[in-house]
Amino acid sequence: MTLEDADIIAGWAADEGFCRAAEWTLGLSREEHQQFQVRLICSPPSDLVRLGAVHDGHLVGYVVLQGDEPRRRELGFLIGPRTVWARGLGRAAARAGLRHGFEEMHLDEIWAEALDANRASIRVLQRLGLRETGPGEAGNYLDQPTHYRQFVITAEA
Ligand SMILES: CC(C)(COP(=O)(O)OP(=O)(O)OC[C@H]1O[C@@H](n2cnc3c(N)ncnc32)[C@H](O)[C@@H]1OP(=O)(O)O)[C@@H](O)C(=O)NCCC(=O)NCCS
Repeated sequence: MTLEDADIIAGWAADEGFCRAAEWTLGLSREEHQQFQVRLICSPPSDLVRLGAVHDGHLVGYVVLQGDEPRRRELGFLIGPRTVWARGLGRAAARAGLRHGFEEMHLDEIWAEALDANRASIRVLQRLGLRETGPGEAGNYLDQPTHYRQFVITAEA
């Protein structure tokens, strides 16, 4: 990802509905979001691989593969701005993240968790063939009590 991406991502954060759905901190300025993204792009934590999702030449999100286990990572994904949701980009980005994890990073296993009330996120994981392994902790999504659901997929799947 590039410094230009930091500005684009900070732009998505101007939409409070996006921030709520993505569980981002509310009330930060565009500059604060931009600086946070710059730090993440320039000096990412050692356990984080983050890849930009590009569609028609535009940054439309990112996927992350996170964790410090040698052959296992957690998948995360985000699409922005909110106006491009529900067009299949989330599934495409997550699928590309899985491919990168297995083909480039040679992982054995990728896991993910999503809040049950985050229906789009659950659908992305189900449609990509991840196997549900069980419920996780309780949580809140858009002010609604809910719980995490955990999923896994192996390289052989
Ligand atoms: C989750 C997220 C990535 C989905 O992105 P997207 O581009 O809208 O996803 P897709 O268009 O590929 O849709 C995926 C599925 O969710 C469904 N969906 C989309 N929006 C939905 C909504 N608001 N309610 C219910 N289902 C929804 C789609 O119909 C599709 O299901 P299908 O395959 O059965 O047709 C996006 O909403 C996002 O970035 N959310 C904030 C960050 C986040 O929650 N990340 C996941 C954390 S694990």
